[in-house]
Amino acid sequence: EAQLIDDGKKVFKKCRACHEVGEGAKNGSGPHLNGIVGRTMGSVDGFKYSKVFAAALDDGLVWDDEALASFLEKPKSYMKGTKMAFSGLKKASDQQAVIEYLRTFGE
Ligand code: HEM
Repeated sequence: EAQLIDDGKKVFKKCRACHEVGEGAKNGSGPHLNGIVGRTMGSVDGFKYSKVFAAALDDGLVWDDEALASFLEKPKSYMKGTKMAFSGLKKASDQQAVIEYLRTFGE
């Protein structure tokens, strides 16, 4: 568990150019990711999402573990039209590790 979180912290280096987490996290080119596990998709105030994310918010879709893993594996396949310019995390172990790391940051 602790090892998984530590691995996830390393994986998150790939995300940090665009996403902040932790106390005082702000939106950058991507929205802050505090509380992302269990958060409604596209719901950070003040962040201008793409249309596909706005639609997901309207539909009340939530980021559970499964949705996060699918999105992180292939962002542009899971969310067609997303402006997240990231090719994805191929390894399921990297997806799981970064999800466990993100889970440590509450809202
Ligand atoms: C959106 C995670 C890498 C830019 C998101 C969302 C998640 C996420 C969970 C949805 C947020 C929400 O619904 O509020 C990650 C993780 C990454 C990563 C874990 C690394 C493994 C990146 C990178 C960039 C980026 C490298 C910039 C080049 C964005 C943008 C959005 C977004 C712009 C909003 C998408 C839209 O409106 O279509 N990311 N991200 N992300 N991310 Fe990432």
